[in-house]
Amino acid sequence: MTASMSAMATDAGRPAYARKAPMPPTAADLRLIEKAALVSGANVWQTRPIPRLGVPQIWLSDGPHGIRKQPGDADHLGLGGSEPAVCFPPAATIANSWDEELAAEIGIALGQEATARGVHVLLGPGLNIKRNPRGGRNFEYLSEDPELAGRLAAAYVRGIQSQGVAATPKHFAANNQELRRLVSDSVIDERTLRELYLTAFEIVVTEAAPWALMSSYNLVNGTYAHQNRHLLTDILREEWGFDGAVISDWGGADGPAASIAAGGTLEMPSPGFESAREIVRAIQTGRLDEAHLDARVNELLTLVRRVTAEARPMPGNHTEAHHRLARRAAAESAVLLRNESTILPLAPGARVALIGAFAEHPRYQGAGSSIVNPTRLTTLLSSIADAGLELVAYAPGFALDGRPDAALTAAAGRAAATADVAVVALGLPDADESEGIDRPHLHLPAAQVDALRAVAATGTPVVVVLSGGGPIETPWLHLTTALVHGYLGGQAGAEAIWDVLTGTVEPGGRLAETMPVSAADDPTSSGYPAQGRTAEYREGLFARYRFHTSAGVAPAFPFGFGLGYTRFAYADLTVDVDGATFTVTNVGAAAGADVPQLYVRRTGSSAVYRPDRELKGWSKIRVAPGERRTVTVPFGARTFRFFDVRSGRWEIEQGEYEVLVGPNSADLPLSATIHVAGTVPAGTPDPALAVYARGDVRDVPDAAFRALLGRDLPDDGWAVPLFRVNTPIDRLGQSPSRLVRFAFGFLERRKRRADAAAHPDLETQFIYYAPFRTLHKMTSATRPVTDAVLEVANGRVFRGLRHLVGALASGRRIERITRDAFERSAGIERIRRTRPPRRRRRPE
Ligand code: BGC
Repeated sequence: MTASMSAMATDAGRPAYARKAPMPPTAADLRLIEKAALVSGANVWQTRPIPRLGVPQIWLSDGPHGIRKQPGDADHLGLGGSEPAVCFPPAATIANSWDEELAAEIGIALGQEATARGVHVLLGPGLNIKRNPRGGRNFEYLSEDPELAGRLAAAYVRGIQSQGVAATPKHFAANNQELRRLVSDSVIDERTLRELYLTAFEIVVTEAAPWALMSSYNLVNGTYAHQNRHLLTDILREEWGFDGAVISDWGGADGPAASIAAGGTLEMPSPGFESAREIVRAIQTGRLDEAHLDARVNELLTLVRRVTAEARPMPGNHTEAHHRLARRAAAESAVLLRNESTILPLAPGARVALIGAFAEHPRYQGAGSSIVNPTRLTTLLSSIADAGLELVAYAPGFALDGRPDAALTAAAGRAAATADVAVVALGLPDADESEGIDRPHLHLPAAQVDALRAVAATGTPVVVVLSGGGPIETPWLHLTTALVHGYLGGQAGAEAIWDVLTGTVEPGGRLAETMPVSAADDPTSSGYPAQGRTAEYREGLFARYRFHTSAGVAPAFPFGFGLGYTRFAYADLTVDVDGATFTVTNVGAAAGADVPQLYVRRTGSSAVYRPDRELKGWSKIRVAPGERRTVTVPFGARTFRFFDVRSGRWEIEQGEYEVLVGPNSADLPLSATIHVAGTVPAGTPDPALAVYARGDVRDVPDAAFRALLGRDLPDDGWAVPLFRVNTPIDRLGQSPSRLVRFAFGFLERRKRRADAAAHPDLETQFIYYAPFRTLHKMTSATRPVTDAVLEVANGRVFRGLRHLVGALASGRRIERITRDAFERSAGIERIRRTRPPRRRRRPE
C-alpha cells in the first residue's frame, strides 16, 4: 500500500469523500482502467481509492461476532493476530435467544466496535441454513430454520447499520459444507432453494436493506455463486430490490467478466491487477457490455458513500458496556436441557466441585476467519467466587487434546465426592469446530465421558455445562442431574453460565436447531460432506426438524426446546385471517422467559408436498409468576406460501391449514384449522414425488430426485484433462507425472499432520482443497503462472516449467505496467523508494 492510500484510509474511519466531492462521483466520471480496477480489492482488507475524484479506500473486517481488524500481516483464515475487540457470543449461540431485540443490541455494539477501529464494512452476520448438524461453520450461522435465521439476521443488520457501518450478510447461497468449499457444487431444486436456503436472505434483504452481501465460495447448480446471474441479478436485485454491493468471499470469485455481468460487485481479496486487465480485455473485445461494469462501479461507489457519510456516529470506547452486553447475551441464550430434582438454580453458598479443563481453558468461539482477539476472557474457575458459591475443589478431569489419562479421571471423582454439587464443564475440542473442516461426528471425546462417569459414580448431583457451537450427542444424559448447553459464550461466557446456574438470569434460551440422538439420524448423513464435485440436496425441504417431525424420527432434544426455572400453560387459541392469538400463563413460582412458537401444517389433498410443520412465527415474552399473557403472532406474506416452479412465482394453495402453537416443534398443544382462499386452487400430487409426500427422505432414488430437480443429475466426477483452474489441489495424486505425484507427497504428509493436530491447521487445509485458480487470485502470481503450473500437473512437465519461468518474469512487468496506468489515472502518488544518489568521493 502506498503512503497516500493509507493516510486516506486511517483518518479515524472517516475519509474526506463527501467533503471533497459535493456531487458524489458515478461510473460516468471514471475512466475504464479505474472502473476495472475498482471492482477488485487493493489488498486483503481494503478497496482501491480514486483520489482524483475523492473516492477513499474503505476497510472491510471480519467477523460476525466481533471485529477482527488486522493492522499488520493480513490473512483470511484468522491465523495472524488482530486488534483486541469484544468477543460476543457467535451467531449459533445468540440464535437460541430467539430475541430480535437482543440481536439488534449486539448489532449496534458491533457497529460501535467497528467505527472505533476505522472499519467501514463488517463481514457478517452469517445466516446459512444448517443443513447437516456436522457443518463445519454451523457455529457461525444462526439456525436450521429460515424464518428464525432471517429475522435475527435482519435485526443484526439494522443494529450494525444504525452506526453507519455496512453489514454483509453471508454466504449467499447454499454454503453448507466446508469440504472443498471452493469447488463444491450445491445441486438443489428451485423450490427447496427458494423456500429453505434463500428465504433467510430474502428476509434480511427485504426487511433490513443491507448495504453489502457476501457471495459464497461454492457453485449453485453449476455456476459459481459470485457469477450466478439467477442468484445475484434475477432474485437478489430484481425480485428483492437489493441495492448494495455483492462482495465475493475471499478467493471465491472465478471469472471477472462473468462476475461483473452476473451482478458480482467486488472481488476480494486482491487478485493484483489480473482481473482489471481481464475486464478491460472483455470490454474491448465485446465480450462484456460496459454498462454492466458501470452498474457494478455505481454499487461500489454507493457503498463507499454510505459508509463514509458525514452523519456516521462518532467512535467511542464502549468496551466495558459491551462486555456486560456479551455476558447478558450469553446468559439469555444458554439452553437448559435437563433439570432433575430441580437441582438448578443452585442454592446460594452451595459447595461446588468444579470439574473439567474447560473451566480453566474455555471454548468460547470457533476457529477460522471469525476469530476475535478478546479484550478479556473470564473462566468458570476465575469467576465462581463472584457467583456466591463456595468452590470446594477443582479438577481438570481430562486432557484437552482428548488423550486418555486415568489419573485425571480418578482425581475428578475424588474432587466431586465431598461437594454438594459437581459442575462439570464438557464440550467440543478446538479441532472439532473450525471453518474449513466439517465435524466428523457429534460425540464428546471419550476421556470427557470417562470423567463424567467418575463424577456421577460418587452420587454427588452432576450439572453438566456444554461448550460447543452445535449439537452434541448425549448418550451419557442419564449420568447427569442437570444439563445446560451454553453453546459458545464469547468472552463473558463463563460469568453468564454462573448467572444461569445461580438463577440470576432465568434460562430463556430455546434450541435454534435440532439435537439428534445420533448424527446418523439425519437424512443427509450418509453423503455428508459430499466427496465428489457435487453436493446433491436429495432431501429437498426435509432438513433437520422438517425431517424429524415428518418422518417420525424423535430427536434427543427438538428444535425450539428449552426449559426454565418456571412452567407455562398454553390456552385459548383463536385464529383469523390476520394471525393467531392465545394465552400463556406462568404457572410456576419464578418469573421466566418463554418463546411460544407457531407452526403451520397443510391438511387435506394438495399438489404441493410439504414438511409436516414449519415455523412461521414466535414471540419472546417475559412473564411474572401467576401472570397470564395474551400473545398474538401475526400472519404475513410467508405464512402459507410455496414457491411454484411452474409459474416461477410464490403462490398460496387454496385449502385447509392447521395452525399449531406450543413451546417447541415437538410439543404443540394448541391447534386450530383455517381455510385459506389462496392464489391457486388445490391440485393433485405428482406421483413422481411420492417419496417427498411421505416425508421420509433417507433414501431418495435417482428418479425421484431427477423429478424434483426437473433435469438430469449433473456429473459428479472430475473433468478430463483433470487439471484446470478449478480443479482442487488435492487431486494432484492423480497427476500423470511421477515427479508431480512425488512432490504432492510432501503436501499430503503435511495434511495428515494437520488432521491429527489438536488445533486446526487452517492454512494447510485451505491449500490442500483449494482450486489452482487461488494461485493468481490470492498470491502475487498472474494467470499465465497458473496455466504453466497446470501444464506441469497435466504431465507436460518440462514445457510447463519453461512457461512458468517466462510467466514469472513477464508477470511482474505486466503487473507494474497496469498498476502504474491505474495509479497515474486515479491520481495516486507513489513514494518510490529510490536509493539516494551516491556521493562522489573527492579526490584527495
Ligand atoms: C470466509 C469469510 C470471511 C473471509 C475474510 C473467508 O475465508 O469464508 O467468511 O469473511 O474469509 O476473512
